[in-house]
Amino acid sequence: MRTTVGIIGAGPAGLLLARLLHNAGIDSVVLEGRDRAYVEHRQRAGILEQGTVDVLRAAGAGERMDREGLPHEGIELRFAGRRHRVDFPALTGGRSVMVYAQTEVCKDLIALQLADGGPLLFEAEALAVEGAGTDRPRVRFRHGGPDGAEDVLECEYVVGCDGFRGVSRAAVPGGRAFERTYPYGWLGILADVAPSHDELVYARHDRGFALLSMRSPSVSRLYLQVPADTDPDSWSDDEIWAELERRFETRDGWTLDRGPITQKSVTPMRSYVHEPMRHGRLFLAGDAAHIVPPTGAKGLNLAVGDVVTLARALVHRAEKGSDELLDAYSATCLRRVWQAERFSYDMTTLLHPAPGATPFDDRLQLARLDRFASSRAAATDLAEAYTGFPIG
Ligand code: APR
Ligand code: PHB
Repeated sequence: MRTTVGIIGAGPAGLLLARLLHNAGIDSVVLEGRDRAYVEHRQRAGILEQGTVDVLRAAGAGERMDREGLPHEGIELRFAGRRHRVDFPALTGGRSVMVYAQTEVCKDLIALQLADGGPLLFEAEALAVEGAGTDRPRVRFRHGGPDGAEDVLECEYVVGCDGFRGVSRAAVPGGRAFERTYPYGWLGILADVAPSHDELVYARHDRGFALLSMRSPSVSRLYLQVPADTDPDSWSDDEIWAELERRFETRDGWTLDRGPITQKSVTPMRSYVHEPMRHGRLFLAGDAAHIVPPTGAKGLNLAVGDVVTLARALVHRAEKGSDELLDAYSATCLRRVWQAERFSYDMTTLLHPAPGATPFDDRLQLARLDRFASSRAAATDLAEAYTGFPIG
């Protein structure tokens, strides 16, 4: 097989890149190791920054998002029984976010790709990226499951959109990793019950962090901080609801509605950046290059920023014959990545009482939260970061 751009991975990064390249008349092939059902039902992110919404609309992939997505103009911080709303448009000159799950973004992009895009091969597992340092890179892959035949995709460029556990990062020699792990994770549930608040609620309680989010007017998405190695099945539904109720408690008697839990999983918390994000004709994008703890809702939005930057650079190369933007790709992305890492780390350490935290640590978290509630400057920093850093 031959193509101009070989894309490994059909998550948000790989699928959006294929769409952007298609719209620019550049051919690509997407190799996805799992099947379509896995990609379309893997519960992960749920918040689209203003920039991501704009990119999806401009790429012709925003129609169902605009019909079914939930525009949100703020979040609530909850601590010491207090409730404080962060008003995004008032603090950012009009920016907001969209609640629309990455599963839905992937479904929309897959449908477009299968309708009029280039080849999207499911159960096509990339085994290795070869020749990244040459002008004839190639991807060796196996198609049709573990006993499938091996094949080779000859490309002009290869983009590793294969997530944190993919194969592409290993093909960047001499890279440097920057990492921090956290001594806790999130137990996440999907529940068939209308969200008990119309916006997201980030709660810091002495017992631990809790987050109220949503997937639709009738489906709630909730998380609570648990020890990092927690088995989701060790929590009964009643225990989950009871703990969430404790952590969301307020002085004004707000109540959390319960409902049938349809999914339960534990997400580990990690900050990770690999530098550089390029080697020769191989480019890394999305989780293949960086991971953020989910507290700041940045993962998918960073992946979007990477592939928009890369698509611009590949179009510039095709139209002008210049590698200038390709050569700047890694530095351009990393500047935005590190801003998101800083914000995600700040939000995580702000809201999660860590094991072994001292009374001083607890008071410090409450003082930081009080600052967001009392200072426009502090709240502006949060609102600007949450609604998204400029791309490129
Ligand atoms: N060959 C082919 N495909 C692979 C391989 C491989 N060797 N290894 C991984 N993949 C596929 C995975 O099956 C997955 O579908 O690559 C895809 C990677 O997708 P994501 O992990 O979602 O990564 P990315 O597209 O960068 O999206 C990043 O989006 O899902 C949200 O918030 C989440 O931070 C995450 C963000
Ligand atoms: C989600 O809805 O899954 C979600 C929302 C906000 C976050 C993390 C996850 O910070």
